[in-house]
Amino acid sequence: MSTIVSELPVGNSGLDFREFTEIRSGKAFQLVPALLDCRCDWISIAAGREGAVLVWIPCKPPMALKLPIYFDHAATTRCDPRVVEAMLPYFSDKFGNSSSRNHKFGWESEDGVELAREQSAALIGANPKEIIFTSGATESNNLAIKGAAEIYAKAPAGQTGRGHIISAIHEHKAVLDPCKRLQREGFEVTFLAPGTDGVITADMVAAAIRPDTILVSIMWANNEIGVINEVPQIGKLCHDKEIVFHTDATQWVGKMPTDVERDHIDLLSWSGHKIYGPKGVGALFVRRRKPRIRLEAIIDGGGHERGMRSGTLNVTGIVGFGKACELCLHEMEHERERLVKFRRKLETELSRRIEVTQVNGHAEKRLPHVTNISFGFVEGESLMMGVKDIACSSGSACTSASLEPSYVLKGLGVGDELAHSSLRLSLGRWTTEEEVDFAIEQIVAAVEHLRLMSPLFDLHKEGVDISKIQWQAH
Ligand SMILES: Cc1ncc(COP(=O)(O)O)c(C=O)c1O
Repeated sequence: MSTIVSELPVGNSGLDFREFTEIRSGKAFQLVPALLDCRCDWISIAAGREGAVLVWIPCKPPMALKLPIYFDHAATTRCDPRVVEAMLPYFSDKFGNSSSRNHKFGWESEDGVELAREQSAALIGANPKEIIFTSGATESNNLAIKGAAEIYAKAPAGQTGRGHIISAIHEHKAVLDPCKRLQREGFEVTFLAPGTDGVITADMVAAAIRPDTILVSIMWANNEIGVINEVPQIGKLCHDKEIVFHTDATQWVGKMPTDVERDHIDLLSWSGHKIYGPKGVGALFVRRRKPRIRLEAIIDGGGHERGMRSGTLNVTGIVGFGKACELCLHEMEHERERLVKFRRKLETELSRRIEVTQVNGHAEKRLPHVTNISFGFVEGESLMMGVKDIACSSGSACTSASLEPSYVLKGLGVGDELAHSSLRLSLGRWTTEEEVDFAIEQIVAAVEHLRLMSPLFDLHKEGVDISKIQWQAH
């Protein structure tokens, strides 16, 4: 292989040409493989306004990095090896049904479940008797919302005027859809809209409360933007007004200190797979005192879990869930400090190095590990292709026929274009600073590369206000 020779001026990439053996010059935007043991998998050549420019996309990580790097911890987390270890005996020797009262096998499993109940309760400041194990946060939310609505309804099934519920437009579907079902069944639901910072405040809830309000369901922290709502204040408001308060705390619990007593929570949902535990297991906190909250079961059967959730318990999963909770309780503070530092580095470096960049949602009221950033003048799908070594989420949701912009970002007033060209980057227990640095380089390079192909970006650089252009239809 020969050493490269190129006439092309290098853009602001800092590229050392000697790192490559060949550059196929010619038409713009052509991808060419890099051929030495350099730190690149490929480079691209593109013709910008000032002539040809070479863009360097570093795709090969420093030695220790394994690609793709995982920046999607808000979607799910890897099971902690200590959790797996705790679960293993319950797949084999300790296989009993935790409801079997007459022999050692049953008692052993029951002990595992009861330890997990204590570990789960300790993480949120609850009494173990207040924990109901479920299959995950979707089920916990359904049980909380439908179960409470049914018990606290003001009119019998089949009639209108059954009661008023308050939630928000950018909740997870596992809250929105149960609320919409209740709407069809005679309840009225107010879906609050957040401000551009994404926060639902206690004042917004207070303004929506009516004499017939029976339930408020507001998530603690949003899964797409990481923004934190005023949950303790909303809890206090609801308690003062004797309204049941549920919070979907799936993204919050295990990452931030939680105290259901201090924060006036009646019902709280969370899930194992977001906290380094197994998938398919979660819990619902149901307050037993001051006030005692009652729920109508949505799964009927053998009367397990105080009659609120029948079905043989997923002992192995529950043991893992409990262990995951215990680890979070002990490691949360240290983990939080580390992840806040990494998240801030991502946000500041990307905003500093790439113009027309917007961090979506409130700047301070946010989870340690989740950020959501939109990049102007790039096309969403191409951006995802450009950052293929970073496993993260985009601001687009696949529906059956098309790519829809995220309803959460739209709820904050983010336009369709910016919503499509946004990335949710969520960090976790094993994220390293090298990974953060690598992600910054890859995103900067991908955006720079895509903008070389954007006539709109050229206009923007010339000072033209794109929003004021009168486009002509042909
Ligand atoms: C805020 C929130 N609620 C509910 C869920 C659903 O959780 P599960 O997968 O445990 O059903 C998720 C998961 O994406 C979530 O982020």
